[in-house]
Amino acid sequence: MILSIESSCDDSSIAVTEIETKKLIYHKKISQDEEHSRYGGVVPELAARLHTEALPKILEECKVYLDSVKAVAVTNEPGLSVTLIEGVTMAKALSVALHIPLIAVNHLKGHIASLFIEQDAVFPMITLLVSGGHTMVLKVNDFFHYEVLATTLDDSFGESFDKVAKMLGLGYPGGPKVEEYAKKGDSNRFDFTIPLYNSNKLAFSYSGLKNQVRLAIESLGELSKKDKEDICASFQKVAIGHLLHKVKNILKKLPPDIRLFSIVGGASANLSLRENIWALCKEHGLELKLAELKYCSDNAAMIGRYAIEAYTYKEFTDIEDLKINPKIITK
Ligand code: KG4
Ligand code: ZN
Repeated sequence: MILSIESSCDDSSIAVTEIETKKLIYHKKISQDEEHSRYGGVVPELAARLHTEALPKILEECKVYLDSVKAVAVTNEPGLSVTLIEGVTMAKALSVALHIPLIAVNHLKGHIASLFIEQDAVFPMITLLVSGGHTMVLKVNDFFHYEVLATTLDDSFGESFDKVAKMLGLGYPGGPKVEEYAKKGDSNRFDFTIPLYNSNKLAFSYSGLKNQVRLAIESLGELSKKDKEDICASFQKVAIGHLLHKVKNILKKLPPDIRLFSIVGGASANLSLRENIWALCKEHGLELKLAELKYCSDNAAMIGRYAIEAYTYKEFTDIEDLKINPKIITK
């Protein structure tokens, strides 16, 4: 078995996965949404302190499996430095105590592996990765080989939902809140424009859209519930429209070996996004692969699934070489 740990942001999670069968033997995640909600976003130091409480509690629960664990996997990038270090420290301690190798996992690769939890993988595919820190389209050849076809120039898709929710006082995380409000709103009331619409660039940009929403909010003064619902609906339509516009351009020049499209990352839970991409895939004769909703946001099960592949190819990292690498993650 592999024991995997994820603490890249505000979810403390540990999983135990059987290497040969890919079966998820144990999985637990403690989210900190409530604690961060009153601040309208993740407070890194608070997140780190909550990991120091939650991770040992979860480990205690699954310690019966420790005798069978052959490797310990941990997210070491990207994420918040003060929270990544919590998981990495625990992983190093387990590696020393149990005399087992360490597997360092990039959590974006983990999101891709979330499609194949308890399943065999299918490649190649085009993957839309939408999270709080990233917005990317990738050509995924296998678990280890990727080509980035498009990425964001500034804010990410999920982050823009978080920021709109914060401006409207809807709490954190913003994605599910904005989606809920959008369901009841009029998406044609505010005429937000799709970013980079007249540009041939295969890239995303969400900071301008966020500013359009800010100006609309300022022009209204006191907001009614209906105003908030209409803003959410109008914003969500354009935020998704931007993804669709660029994905359509990518699909026009699709390599002939691609028959599969997937969406991963925390924001892939958005139902309107799922429906729109599903329709687009149908038009292009592509199969759409999605992760189960419970595996969309950060979790250790996906880290464990990726780690099975790394274990098979003996992709281990020496304890002295296992460093954290926060890169970008902005909330
Ligand atoms: O992958 P994830 O759990 O953490 C990062 O790697 O960032 O993604 C979290 C992000 C947050 O920005 C959250 O607001 C967004 O995913 N999200 C959503 C939805 N559910 C979560 N965005 C839009 N619609 C949703 N339903
Ligand atoms: Zn993530």
